[in-house]
Amino acid sequence: MAEFDRVWVNAHLCTMQDGLGVVRDGAVAARDGRIAWAGPRGELPATEAPRTDCGGAWILPGLIDCHTHLVFGGNRAGEFERRLAGATYEEIAREGGGILSTVRATRAASEDALIASALPRLDGLLAEGVTTIEVKSGYGLEFEAERRMLRAARALGRERAVSVATSFLGAHAVPPEYRGRQGEYAALVAGMIAPLAEEGLVDAVDAFCERIAFTPAETAAVFQAARECGLPVKLHADQLSDLGGAALAARFGALSADHLEHASAEGLAAMAAAGSVAVLLPGATYFIREERHPDIAAMRAAGLRMAIATDMNPGSSPARSLLLMLNMACTLYRLTVEEALLGVTRHAAAALGLADRGMLAPGMRCDLALYRIDAPAELCYWLGGNPCAGRVVAGRDA
Ligand code: NIG
Ligand code: FE
Repeated sequence: MAEFDRVWVNAHLCTMQDGLGVVRDGAVAARDGRIAWAGPRGELPATEAPRTDCGGAWILPGLIDCHTHLVFGGNRAGEFERRLAGATYEEIAREGGGILSTVRATRAASEDALIASALPRLDGLLAEGVTTIEVKSGYGLEFEAERRMLRAARALGRERAVSVATSFLGAHAVPPEYRGRQGEYAALVAGMIAPLAEEGLVDAVDAFCERIAFTPAETAAVFQAARECGLPVKLHADQLSDLGGAALAARFGALSADHLEHASAEGLAAMAAAGSVAVLLPGATYFIREERHPDIAAMRAAGLRMAIATDMNPGSSPARSLLLMLNMACTLYRLTVEEALLGVTRHAAAALGLADRGMLAPGMRCDLALYRIDAPAELCYWLGGNPCAGRVVAGRDA
């Protein structure tokens, strides 16, 4: 008799092994919070463990939103109105608005206020079946405010049944008090990494390499400091222009480079060789009306793994639905359903360096998302609506 804690039956599975890895009439068994078995129901080992009848639902690995700026103060609906009247994202940023207006609101917010404003946004994602989320700092741009953001992100993981991976993004923008002294600020950011990491607040280090943010040399200095602390890096790369961000990320063995609308084919090939994941953020492409799209054909040709995330942030992607991003990735970038679903499961796990999730396979965390759909393509097809019928986190209903 197999010793499972619990089994789920009367379900179809997308195991995400070997493409979608569809198993019709499948079963999943858990033990000690991990998947102990997944496959066709007819082959489920005999067990007396409690059974959950899923009523024909589809089970996927719990979804992973691998790029968010979920914690921030205020919002930028006012700037949205200005953009509707003709101003561009870059113009607003250069005038001291954009990221810096969120910096002002975030600096003014207490840790409790940051948590309280992030929770409803988090809840919306969880309701869709998300079980792991990455959260970045980057709206504090001074030690204590960055620390507060990261502490708030960690607190979200205690408030809700979700795994939170944190990324320190001190190199997101140059704060007003360092205007004209950008290199000095980049050095200051590099020095923040060790104390924040010692406090257990940093899982990865991220930066924004762009003409309105940090140069490749400044980004490399921050990455070098991350390397010295033994932390992996990620990069906001080639979003608005091609500064060689993809190749820079590859040079540091980045977990991922994200955005990539302007990345060159050479940069993408370098990423593939380094094993970095390409994180696609169609919400940002859409919301700032970027006409150039990531070069999906070059990514496919290079054999790059592609992930999809919300980039949930108040300026360039106020996207509160990961399922909607699936549709956008398919419709705007022409991803296949299989590529899109790998992008929020297996490849999103890789973008966070998490080897214990993203697939329904023995040994993986038992994080599941259940959906009332007739076929997996429906997850990418609907614009709005939420077919999620249940979430399981580490083997327990969440
Ligand atoms: O991922 N690209 C830079 N950072 C964010 C935008 C942040 C903001 O506008 O507040 C992004 O798009
Ligand atoms: Fe971002």
